[in-house]
Amino acid sequence: MSRDELLAWIPSGHPDESLVREIHFDRLPVHVAVIMDGNGRWAAQRHLPRVEGHRAGIDSVRDSVETAARLGIQVLTLYAFSMENWKRPASEVGTLMQLLKRYLRSELDTLLSNDIRFRVIGRMEDLAPDIQEELHAAIQRTSSSRGMLFNIALNYGGRAEIVDAARRAMTSGVRPEDLDEQRFASFLYTAGQPDPDLLIRTSGEMRVSNYLLWQIAYSEIYVTDTLWPDFRRRHLLEAVLAYQKRERRYGGISSPAVIGAK
Ligand code: FPP
Repeated sequence: MSRDELLAWIPSGHPDESLVREIHFDRLPVHVAVIMDGNGRWAAQRHLPRVEGHRAGIDSVRDSVETAARLGIQVLTLYAFSMENWKRPASEVGTLMQLLKRYLRSELDTLLSNDIRFRVIGRMEDLAPDIQEELHAAIQRTSSSRGMLFNIALNYGGRAEIVDAARRAMTSGVRPEDLDEQRFASFLYTAGQPDPDLLIRTSGEMRVSNYLLWQIAYSEIYVTDTLWPDFRRRHLLEAVLAYQKRERRYGGISSPAVIGAK
């Protein structure tokens, strides 16, 4: 996506225009991963039940997915449900699953019209059959899209992913002496995908919460106090701008303009 194309999507005179003009389109993060946090607090601030925060968070998902695709991000990974989230009340878990189902139904056309390919990372096989069906349908329907890859992390745990990868490696026939980092990564749920360049966490918490533990080894971390239901295009653009001001070293020495030169 070019700057002009993105600007054509933003109403003329909108404050986001100036943010777009500041972005270096030749140095975009290739993969952006997001920990969507703060739904419960957003609801509590409004004296609403927690699930209303999740419901409101769907608008942020919609806005972020479309913004990322139009910006030219190649991979977007959203953390929608962790393996630890099963500890929440059954009613909250049920609502989250229903919201996901509804989101997929209502957004499929938008995903297709934006050429977005949908994928799930996590132990999908443990989800309810109707949810799995909906997910498989969305994966199937968007499988020939060639634009942004949109991963949803569902029933996901970073350590579990590493264990699953180790199991696959052990049964794959690969000899221990042939197993290196690159080979091991090919057994992860994200096989073939670039590692996240930018990890965004909303609601101000300084934790990685068992998210993409292998893949975020060299990610730039951006934490915003904005609660997820308030997160919009502007916030994503601000995160990308902050990323573009960082200097990435990968454990090496300081050198200018290394962003994106992975
Ligand atoms: C964290 O907020 C958020 C979640 C556990 C779920 C995120 C899910 C959605 C935004 C809706 C469904 C997603 C998709 C992709 C359609 P929290 O409840 O932990 O908030 P708190 O820390 O303020 O309590």
